[in-house]
Amino acid sequence: MPFFDFKKKKIFYHLIEKSTQQAMIFIHGAGESSYIWKNQMSNLMHDHTLIAFDLPSHGKSSEFKKISIEIYVDVIKALVEHLQLNKIILVGHSLGGAIAQTYYFKYREDVAALILCATGARLRVSPMIFDSIQNDYSEFLKILPVGAFYRKTLKDIIEDFVDEMSKTKAEVAYQDFSFCNEFDMLKKIRQIRVPSLIICGNADKLTPPKYSQFFKAKISNSTLIIIKNAGHMVMLEKPEEINLAIQDFLKNNRL
Ligand code: COA
Repeated sequence: MPFFDFKKKKIFYHLIEKSTQQAMIFIHGAGESSYIWKNQMSNLMHDHTLIAFDLPSHGKSSEFKKISIEIYVDVIKALVEHLQLNKIILVGHSLGGAIAQTYYFKYREDVAALILCATGARLRVSPMIFDSIQNDYSEFLKILPVGAFYRKTLKDIIEDFVDEMSKTKAEVAYQDFSFCNEFDMLKKIRQIRVPSLIICGNADKLTPPKYSQFFKAKISNSTLIIIKNAGHMVMLEKPEEINLAIQDFLKNNRL
């Protein structure tokens, strides 16, 4: 699996190359890694080049002294230039959705479509999350699934997710949640002009369906899919339904 250089550090990315012009870039959320997109990278039926990468200080990417949403956006821009991509479809989960929105407003000409998955235009974070990460990160990871997954999700899916999250440093996860907490695009969303697919689980407690309904109401060319019996980690919980929703969206919008 390849890496590319960004500010003299390494960024890991998983690439599935296809012959068409368009690429989909998958952006993970707070404290996560490209792992969360494993079911899309392996099973999505598509004609697009697929890229899932690890944000700075996450997964297999190098540790960075300073991180911010702007740096995360710049990493994507560098990736787009490195791979000489033309029009991209940004797929963002939670914080990744905030990064996708920020990228869109900075480099709109690059973006063909947005897929906003379990995210929002504003992402205030409960003080309990900050306290819990600060006090005991392993304890936080034990309680996180209660908020992040639908209650009947298979134990193996949850355990693998917690195992992956435990590889992220507590201070990095803390900073990621701070970026979410400061994020607010409520007033700009109606300026989004590209086709947008909005996906969320009906039982998502971290970014409730109300956030996705807000996107649907404000983005003129948008499709909302609410997945039943799924929580915040909807792409791990209901991969087949997510992949179908993405495939239909690509087809219906001739992407
Ligand atoms: N889209 C649409 N509406 C939104 C929104 C979004 N992305 N984010 C907030 N709002 C709305 C809320 O529904 C609320 O509307 P209301 O006054 O009609 O009820 C209003 O804006 C203010 O909400 P919020 O900004 O969240 O502030 P708050 O003080 O009411 O609540 C929290 C703060 C942290 C308790 C709350 O945001 C919460 O429970 N968050 C979810 C849990 C969490 O930590 N998630 C992590 C996300 S990464």
